[in-house]
This record gives sequence, C-alpha cells and structure tokens, in this order.
Amino acid sequence: MTQALKGVRILDFTHVQSGPTCTQLLAWFGADVIKVERPGVGDITRGQLRDVPNADSLYFTMLNHNKRSITLDTKNPKGKEVLTELMKSCDVLVENFGPGVLDRMGFPWETIQTINPKLIVASIKGFGPGPYEDCKVYENVAQCTGGAASTTGFRDGPPLVTGAQIGDSGTGLHLALGIVTALYQRTMTGKGQKVTAAMQDGVLNLSRVKLRDQQRLAHGPLTEYSQYGEGVPFGEAVPRAGNDSGGGQPGRILKCKGWETDPNAYIYFITQAPVWEKICDVIGEPEWKTHPDYAKPAARLPRLNEIFGRIEQWTMTKTKFEAMEILNRDDIPCGPILSMKELAEDQSLRKTGTVVEVEHPVRGTYLSVGNPIKLSDSPTVVTRSPLLGEHTDEILKEVLGFSDHQVAEAHKSGALDPPQKVAAE
Ligand code: COA
Repeated sequence: MTQALKGVRILDFTHVQSGPTCTQLLAWFGADVIKVERPGVGDITRGQLRDVPNADSLYFTMLNHNKRSITLDTKNPKGKEVLTELMKSCDVLVENFGPGVLDRMGFPWETIQTINPKLIVASIKGFGPGPYEDCKVYENVAQCTGGAASTTGFRDGPPLVTGAQIGDSGTGLHLALGIVTALYQRTMTGKGQKVTAAMQDGVLNLSRVKLRDQQRLAHGPLTEYSQYGEGVPFGEAVPRAGNDSGGGQPGRILKCKGWETDPNAYIYFITQAPVWEKICDVIGEPEWKTHPDYAKPAARLPRLNEIFGRIEQWTMTKTKFEAMEILNRDDIPCGPILSMKELAEDQSLRKTGTVVEVEHPVRGTYLSVGNPIKLSDSPTVVTRSPLLGEHTDEILKEVLGFSDHQVAEAHKSGALDPPQKVAAE
C-alpha cells in the first residue's frame, strides 16, 4: 500500500507551531517534507519549554514528525543558491515567517515564479490584507482578534482563550487543505499558485456560529443562552455564554461524584429534544414529560437553570463514567470531561494511532498525538522528528544531485551546519 501524497515534495520553511502542523500533516500523508532551518539555531521551538537537557523539546518533536532537516543560511549567497535549487525540485513551499520576510530574503512571489512556475507557495500570516497585515502574531493574539476570546468564558468574567490551539494548529489545518486543493488544480492547469491562510480568518471561520448569533441578536434575545432564562438583557454584541451549548440543543457541564476533589469530575450533558422523555425518566422527573412548563423545548428555554440544576442532582450521584454509560444506553448525548492524563492512558486512542509512542535517540520514548485524519488507503506511520541538520548532506546529494566535492564546497561556504550524528539508533 502506498501513501496519498507520495511523490510530492515540500520545501518546509515553517517554524513554531502553525506552519509545522500543516507540513506534519502533509508528511503523514506521504509527502517528502524537507525542513529548512537556520544553521546552529534551527526552529526556535527546539529549545523552548525543554524538559530533557540537550534534547529537542516536546514542543518541537510533537510538531515535526516524519520530516527531514537541512540547515541553510538563506542570507548567505551559497545558501540562496541551494535554496533556489530546492525550489526547482519541490512542488510546494510552505512558510509562516513574519510579514515581508520572504521578500527581504530575495524571494518575492514574482521571483519564485520565474524559478519554478509550478511551485505552490503557501503562507500563514497573522492577518490578511488590511490595517494589521504587517503585524506579527501568535496563537492567543489570533484567538483574541478572530472572535473566539470575546465569546469564550463567563458573562461576568473577562474574555478567555482556549487551550485548543485554534489559531496555530487550526490555521495549519486550513492551509493544508489549501495546499492539497492547489495541487489538485495544478494537475489541470500545470501552474503553481499562492495559497494564504490568515490566523484571524481561520479563528473566525471556527467561530462562525458566533457570527450567526451576532445577526440573530437583531431579531431578539438568544433564547438558548442562560442569560435569557436569568432575565439578563442582551447588549449589542454576542456575549460570553459559559458552557451553554452553541447549537440548538441546550447543554451544560454538570458536576459528577467526586467533583469536590477531582477538578475533572464533570460531564457535558445535552438535553436533546428527541430524548427528553428518557431524560425525565433517568433523573426521576417523569411528570416533566407532559407538564406544560417542561414538555416542549420552547417551554424549557426560560427554565434551563432549574432543569440543569435538577439533572445535576442526578449526575452528582454518579461518576462521570457511570453517568456516561447510563445515559448512552438511552442515546442521551453526553461526554465526560477527560483530563490529559486520562487521554494519554486511553487504550482505544492508542489502538487507532491517535495517541502514539515515539522513540527518539536523544530524549527516549515520548507520547504524541498521531494523525487524527484516517485514510483507508494511506496509512500513517509516525516517525520521530529530525535532529537539526540531520539530513543536510543526504538532501544535497539525493535531491539536488550534488557530488561529494560540491557538498564539501557548500560546507566551506559557511551556509550549512555539519549534520549532527545520531549516536544510538
Ligand atoms: N537563514 C537565515 N535567516 C533566516 C532563516 C534562515 N534559514 N530563517 C529565518 N530567517 C530570518 C528571516 O529572514 C528573518 O529575518 P529579517 O527579519 O531580517 O527579514 C528573521 O529570521 C525573523 O523571521 P520571523 O518570521 O519574522 O521570526 P520572528 O521570530 O521575529 O517572529 C512570528 C515569529 C511567529 C511572530 C512570525 O514569524 C509571524 O508572525 N509569523 C506569521 C504568523 C504565524 O505563523 N504565527 C504563529 C506562529 S506559531
């Protein structure tokens, strides 16, 4: 069995998180991903949040699986020459530099097109064209400027960012889709094109239900938000809705047995209309099935605090897993709040390859999230991230056809690092 993107070569000029998540996905689908890094330094995340002395950090290793690394000083004339050759040999260049960096390096889009008109150039920037286009951006800035933070948290608290990296990894996902789409179009046009994904746009895309609610506000209160039942008037902008469900079926996070000591002893509970009668039976309120205040969804909306309070009395008598089992027997949608510890130990996630153990020659064995997208004809085998410059010579010879003499000359120019030797593999 072969892999979907076998034969596609990616010039991976990405760093930190957003770009690397994109190229890692492409590598998992079989692309040959060549990561270009600055000699002696590499991707800054190699050394950030280090937990094992002298080993590449988990931050780096978990975002750069299945890639090869070449070190190249792209401001050095020889480095530029090698980069130009790589552009000729690759199908896609992916970058998430600060605005204008590629231009300042001497490789604006017009130049790249003359080097290789088939090359797809994919970029992540913080913002699209407009007042902020020249700004550098990190995850939380994107969450704040893309509408996620203003709509996350509780009404009486400040805006909140979420732990899910929707600005970085989310935009990486968007870009990956743009790249494979451009590759598909190239099969018909024979031409490369620019693919751009701005982090603000990516976050707004993921927050689209809140833009939906912004427009609904013009036609009346948002009846599924808790504040409606509490009689709190709505302002001009979509408010923070705590743990209210963002959809048409009201939901809440409710305490379960042990909540006093376990910060994750909670369950998300959805009062889906089609199973309302089963919910009433489970929580011991059978008369709510026919009572005019509770029987129909519209009647329940102003009473959600009371209803969820009653359901919570029931969930507090069960562990989150017991509640999950009982509720699922009746098809009542719910989900325990799973800690990272529980997810790391979850055997079913290990079986599907969503959580994988990876061997690394310097840091030993570590856990990572594998490919969350499963293709039946393109299996993913997760291999460790490269050491800095580990494949420099290999890439010069195999991809660019350099002779030993040319490799030696390139090293003499100071544009490359000598490859690190892997001692124990
Ligand atoms: N050889 C020589 N120079 C290199 C190099 C290489 N291999 N790789 C990078 N550089 C240089 C660049 O040419 C640039 O130099 P210049 O400013 O003189 O033109 C310099 O490194 C800095 O690049 P930059 O991307 O601006 O890095 P930064 O650390 O200052 O900023 C970010 C980091 C993430 C804020 C910025 O890259 C950014 O806004 N990226 C787009 C949005 C994004 O993806 N953000 C999320 C990251 S998770």
